[in-house]
Amino acid sequence: MRWSERQRAMLGAMGIALWLPEHRVAPVAAAPDEPRSTKTAGVRAAPSDAPAAQAADIATLDWDALRARVASCRACRLCESRTQTVFGVGNPHAHCMIVGEAPGENEDLQGEPFVGAAGQLLDRMLPAIGLTRGAAEPARQVFIANTLKCRPPRNRNPDPSELARCSAYLVRQIELVQPKLLLAMGRFAVQVLLDSGEPIGRLRGRVHRWRDLPVVVTYHPAYLLRNPADKARAWADLCLAAAQLAR
Ligand code: URA
Repeated sequence: MRWSERQRAMLGAMGIALWLPEHRVAPVAAAPDEPRSTKTAGVRAAPSDAPAAQAADIATLDWDALRARVASCRACRLCESRTQTVFGVGNPHAHCMIVGEAPGENEDLQGEPFVGAAGQLLDRMLPAIGLTRGAAEPARQVFIANTLKCRPPRNRNPDPSELARCSAYLVRQIELVQPKLLLAMGRFAVQVLLDSGEPIGRLRGRVHRWRDLPVVVTYHPAYLLRNPADKARAWADLCLAAAQLAR
């Protein structure tokens, strides 16, 4: 693959030097889709003490009602410490939907996902494959959501019961957006979408499935900030996502 000036600029913005021979950073040949199995079929069931009726009800909501339901959610104790919920941002008809982890301090204050340092890296990564968070048509503007809609205190990891209680919102968002591709960033997105605890390094580089939707797994931008050596792998993941979107 030959890089255009624009692509080189974007790779530079991501902090990726073209130190590898170009054919080594090109997208991995679209791997055969994994067979569907119960392992990759979707979100874990809500815990037995979570009202199943509530999840069934969420599954009937339209976009505005879903947004309102998230804003008033008190299903777990994160509602006590949040400033506000973080529903998601972007095009509600996006072809590419990005699933991150949970709001951090900046997101909790601003009500928008990925607005801190990790978000700035994400904003530099997306144009490398022709995508953006800014206003654009559905083929170019992503929708960004998190597994949790509220900030865990002190940015601790989401706990399993929080993930289970919040998952119905993410499921409904995916059902309503109807993206062509899910881009799962980090281990909690993988846990919720693929019901897998495998490390990202073992899951990336091939296409998984959530229901019928292709899922590409990649590193979380916050991880990439701490481990810049893995940016080249993240770039290969983005190329795989772009190839999948172009199908
Ligand atoms: N990290 C995430 O996974 N999501 C955010 O919204 C911010 C940081």
